[in-house]
Amino acid sequence: MTPKAAPGVLSESYWNDAGGDVWVEHQALLDRINQPVGDIVAERADPGPGARVLDVGCGAGATTLDMARRVGPEGLSTGVDVSGALVELGRRRARAAGVANVDFVRADAGTHAFGEAAFEAAISRYGVMFFEDPDAAFANLRRAVRPGGGLTFACWRGAAENPLSLVPLEAAAPFLPEPPRIPADGPGRFAFADPDRVRGVLDRSGWRRVEIEPLDVATPVSFDELMILSLRLGLLSTILPGQDEAVRRRIAEAVAVRLEGHVEDGMVPMTAACWLVTAVA
Ligand SMILES: C[S@@+](CC[C@H](N)C(=O)[O-])C[C@H]1O[C@@H](n2cnc3c(N)ncnc32)[C@H](O)[C@@H]1O
Repeated sequence: MTPKAAPGVLSESYWNDAGGDVWVEHQALLDRINQPVGDIVAERADPGPGARVLDVGCGAGATTLDMARRVGPEGLSTGVDVSGALVELGRRRARAAGVANVDFVRADAGTHAFGEAAFEAAISRYGVMFFEDPDAAFANLRRAVRPGGGLTFACWRGAAENPLSLVPLEAAAPFLPEPPRIPADGPGRFAFADPDRVRGVLDRSGWRRVEIEPLDVATPVSFDELMILSLRLGLLSTILPGQDEAVRRRIAEAVAVRLEGHVEDGMVPMTAACWLVTAVA
């Protein structure tokens, strides 16, 4: 299925098509730049040895495998993801690493029947902003966590606070028939940018003691890596496939010119501006 041609709108079909494939292809880069945020989520969740933990939108499983180590052999780390390609990669990585207390489920985390109170905690690194019906999805996750258990996730703040994500769109705008607009409420990367929306979703879905705090994490990248992030994974990635070859080439050149201006000593000092969200079931 073709992804919706609006920047940053990443629906389920996207993750099972181009999105899943490109995350598989660039798994090492994505794991490296996203690891600090994953570590912060895991440390805040701190479910302890023996816990059963659900990793929502687990992607290629880096955070799921890390949580398996944290909960130890008596615990279980379950990754759920809608993308077949990413779940398969997670399983391969678990086998290669010899991690036994891990489990991967290919499913829509918003509707899957996990079982009542099946987990002591749920975590997510950037995996919860893609639900078509967030209220229903977070109610489903709450049922899956035992009463008193925790939810800890990281999601992106807005594009304005992550300005490098906007540079490629601005560079591409002159070559596109109409200026790309990022829809305010997704589903997509910036769907949870508004903390009042996040709080509303969690309140309505029955989570308690909701806390939302800003998290700014340095994620330096090389120029080449930033080009990959900008053209293959970022806001432009849903628009470029709809353009013809000549337009795509001109956009890539324009993006390169704009991004070169951000290189300092061979690297681009990028920062991930996110929310760290916690709640109790
Ligand atoms: C931005 S990626 C983050 C992946 C991973 N958590 C990480 O940090 O590497 C978002 C992930 O959410 C998954 N996803 C999107 N919608 C989902 C849904 N409804 N249920 C489960 N996973 C979903 C995507 O397939 C993708 O792997």
